[in-house]
Amino acid sequence: MDTKLDPWSSSDITDYSKLFEEFGISPFENVLPEIPSPHMYMRRKVIFGHRDYEQIAEAMRTGAPFSVMDGFMPSGKVHLGHKMVMDQIVWHQEMGASAFVGIADREAFSVRGFSWQKCREIGVEEYILSLIALGFKPNGLIYFQSGCGSVKDLAFELGVKVNFSELGAIYGFSGETSLSHMLSVATQAADILQPQLEEFSGPKPVVVPVGPDQDPHLRLTRGLAGKMNMFRVEEREDVKTGRKYLSVRGKTAQKEALQELKKRIPGRVKLYEEHIDVLEYLDLAGLEKLVREVAVEFGGYAFIPPASTYHRFMSGLQGGKMSSSIPESQIALTDDPKEGAKKVKRAKTGGCVTLEEQKKLGGKPEECSVFELMLFHLIASDEELLEIKQECIAGTRMCGSCKQLAAEKMQEFLKDHQEKRELAREHLDEYRIIYKD
Ligand code: TRP
Ligand code: SF4
Repeated sequence: MDTKLDPWSSSDITDYSKLFEEFGISPFENVLPEIPSPHMYMRRKVIFGHRDYEQIAEAMRTGAPFSVMDGFMPSGKVHLGHKMVMDQIVWHQEMGASAFVGIADREAFSVRGFSWQKCREIGVEEYILSLIALGFKPNGLIYFQSGCGSVKDLAFELGVKVNFSELGAIYGFSGETSLSHMLSVATQAADILQPQLEEFSGPKPVVVPVGPDQDPHLRLTRGLAGKMNMFRVEEREDVKTGRKYLSVRGKTAQKEALQELKKRIPGRVKLYEEHIDVLEYLDLAGLEKLVREVAVEFGGYAFIPPASTYHRFMSGLQGGKMSSSIPESQIALTDDPKEGAKKVKRAKTGGCVTLEEQKKLGGKPEECSVFELMLFHLIASDEELLEIKQECIAGTRMCGSCKQLAAEKMQEFLKDHQEKRELAREHLDEYRIIYKD
């Protein structure tokens, strides 16, 4: 059966292993050892998958330029799910990434039917204030899609390389899908590719931290990156001799660009009408870099396919799904701190019905939404978390006191976060924010 990944429905994905097989997402633990000091979500397997994160890890290690990019569609209240994404943006910024955050007002306008005014209100009041309160630094760029000329232009250009059958295959679009909805998809691809435009100093690795529901956008964008590029490097094999060689295809490249490229490639090369065969210089990464340089010099695109990470979703506080339409299922970052604490106390745990039973059998942290809150948000120390888990399993920890601790921490976090939001409000003009004009 097909795993359904639909960014506009709230289907929850329970079996993550399918994503690996069906969509080519790699397990995150494979790159974990390459990351200098991994984020809590990485260590705790909240981030379970990735595409091409190796290039991000390498940039972090070598100090090469890289970016983190993410978008938020104005929908409703900013909640713990958004915090997860924001934490990852801020962390990458701390690790040296230039950061780009798009407020997807074009998506909200076309898919949700929100007015521009409403998009702006939600964008600022919900997402931007919390993003800054969570530590976003002023050198990052925040923009409303509809206010960002370069994103809109790029979206239009990308549109040339997307046709309806492809959108149908990826998103299940039908004859009823509006043109604006389709355009919002191109806009999102433009969001993701924008950090590699010349005005942001050209091609570089970009990571997009998302939930698995957003993966269709990444697949589309990765495909588009290749289609837009002036050159494409391919690994080939001589049918007669079996010798491996590389070939640079440049169908849309000017003659001069191909000739210039030929001059720069070391070793024996053969220049044809629309491509160059590279016979001796077999360093793929090195050749790709050369090719990017020449493409950019001749005014072409040389996008590196964007990398991504995938995080698990939290379950709802009452079990089931966390959903904006069920306020009790989640905690908004703007909830009154006392109310937030109460929600924690009312949450479903993995404990037994009676204390005696729990002392005998122990609790089930993997089925406990209070434990999830601690794992995702409330307990910064891995040792402390592990201790809680072991005590729970051993039956020496009781849900009442456990909830009490989590509730206190939640109340403290919300109070502190909301103070920081007010501070952010006062300093908003120190941030680079592009609004719709
Ligand atoms: N589609 C995303 C959402 O539903 C928002 C979004 C817009 C986005 N542009 C993006 C996400 C770029 C990641 C990268 O919230
Ligand atoms: Fe959850 Fe804590 Fe109860 Fe264990 S003791 S089930 S972690 S609330």
